[in-house]
Amino acid sequence: MVELTLPRNSKVTSGKTWNKPERNGDWKEIRVYRWNPDDGLNPRLDTYWIDRKQCGPMVLDALNKIKNEIDPTLTYRRSCREGICGSCSMNIDGTNTLACLKALDDVRGAVKIYPLPHLEVVKDLVPDLTNFYAQHASIEPWLQTKTPTPPGEWLQARDDREKLDGLYECILCACCSTSCPSYWWNSDRYLGPAVLLQAYRWVIDSRDEATGERLDNLEDPFRLYRCHTILNCAKACPKGLNPGKAIAELKKLMVERRV
Ligand code: SF4
Ligand code: SF4
Ligand code: FES
Repeated sequence: MVELTLPRNSKVTSGKTWNKPERNGDWKEIRVYRWNPDDGLNPRLDTYWIDRKQCGPMVLDALNKIKNEIDPTLTYRRSCREGICGSCSMNIDGTNTLACLKALDDVRGAVKIYPLPHLEVVKDLVPDLTNFYAQHASIEPWLQTKTPTPPGEWLQARDDREKLDGLYECILCACCSTSCPSYWWNSDRYLGPAVLLQAYRWVIDSRDEATGERLDNLEDPFRLYRCHTILNCAKACPKGLNPGKAIAELKKLMVERRV
C-alpha cells in the first residue's frame, strides 16, 4: 500500500479564542485560518466572537471588526467592499466566494474561513497569486490592432458589444480557478477558467485584430485542453459568470479554424 507523508506543518491545530461572550446577546462565532511564515508554527484555527448588533451584515464586516477591534494581526485582502475589485476572495463555509458579498446570516452556526484552496499561502487569508497573474499576462489582455485606430470613440455594433456580456464583468477574483480540479493538479501548465474566460473575451472582441495569434497561443495540450467541462467554475463564480462555457467556445473556434 502507498504510504503518503504529509508535510510536518500541514496539520491545522486549534488556536486561540478571542472575545468570548460574557453576556447574553446575538453573537456570531467566526473561525479563521491563521498562519504566519515567520514564527515556524503550524497553521491554526482561531475563534473570534462578534456581537452582531455592533457589526455590519457581511463576512467582510466581521473580518474588519476583528482586525480593527480585536486582533490587528489578522491578514487578508480587501478594497472596494462591493464585489468589484476581487480582492476579498476566500473560502467561506466550504465555498470560494467574496467576503464582501457573503452575508453572515447565510451561514448557519460558526463561519469557517480559509484562504482560497490549492495555492501557496503568503499569510493567514492571503494566497500567493503570482502564477495566476503571470498566466493572465501571458494571454496579453489588451486590445491589439493592426489598422490605425479611429479618432475619438471606437464604435461597436450593438450585437458585437453584446458578445462581451458575461465576460467583461469578470473581476479576476480567482474563485473559479481555485475550485477547478484540473487547475489544482496542473496550475503550472493549465491556464484555468478565469484566465481562459479572459482569453475568450479578447478573442471575441470585434475590434481586436490578433485573433489568430491568440488562438495559436492556446493551441497546446495543457493550456486550454485540460478543461474537462465539470463546471465547478460556474458554480463558484460570485459574479454569476460561466467560464466553462467560454472555454467550450474557445475549443469550438479551434476546431472551426482547422476545417
Ligand atoms: S469546466 Fe473546466 S475550467 Fe471549469 S471547473 Fe471544470 S475543468 Fe475546470
Ligand atoms: S470568472 Fe468569476 S470566479 Fe472566475 S475570476 Fe472571473 S469573477 Fe472570479
Ligand atoms: S472587497 Fe472588493 S470584491 Fe470584496
